[in-house]
Amino acid sequence: MDVLNAYQVALQARAHSYSPYSKFKVGAALKIRGQGQAIGGCNIENASFGATVCAERSALHAAISQFGPVVPEFLVVVTGEAKATVPCALCLQSLAEFCDDAMPIYLGNERELLLERKFGDFLPYAFRTFAVPK
Ligand code: THU
Repeated sequence: MDVLNAYQVALQARAHSYSPYSKFKVGAALKIRGQGQAIGGCNIENASFGATVCAERSALHAAISQFGPVVPEFLVVVTGEAKATVPCALCLQSLAEFCDDAMPIYLGNERELLLERKFGDFLPYAFRTFAVPK
C-alpha cells in the first residue's frame, strides 16, 4: 500500500463524511504495520456539536477496533480546501498514543496531495506516559 493508494482510501472515506453542520468534509486513511490496506475514516458530526468525531480519530479508532493496538506507518488526510489543513490537536494527541514523531502525515484535497510533514512537526513534545512501540 503506497501513499497514492491510501489517498484513494481517504477520498472514499471523505465521501462518507456526515457533516451537515459545518459542511466541512474530511477523509483520512491510516496505514498500519502488518496490513496491506489503509484504514479509512471520515468526520461524523452531531447535533450536540461536542460529540463530533474527526476523520483522523475515526480512522484510528476503526483500525484499533479491527486489529487491536496498531503501529501507524503513515496518515493521509483530505479536505475540500485549496490549502493543506492540519489535524486538530485532539486527533494529534490521540495518534500520539500509538505513533512516533517520525510518522509521515500527508495532507491534500480532492485534487491532489499538497504537503508531507512528520507527526512531530505538528505536535512536538507530545504527552506520552510510555515509549511508543517501534
Ligand atoms: N475535522 C476533522 O475531521 N479533522 C480535523 O483535523 C479538524 C476538523 C472535522 C470536524 C468537523 O466535523 C469539521 O471538520 C469542522 O471542524
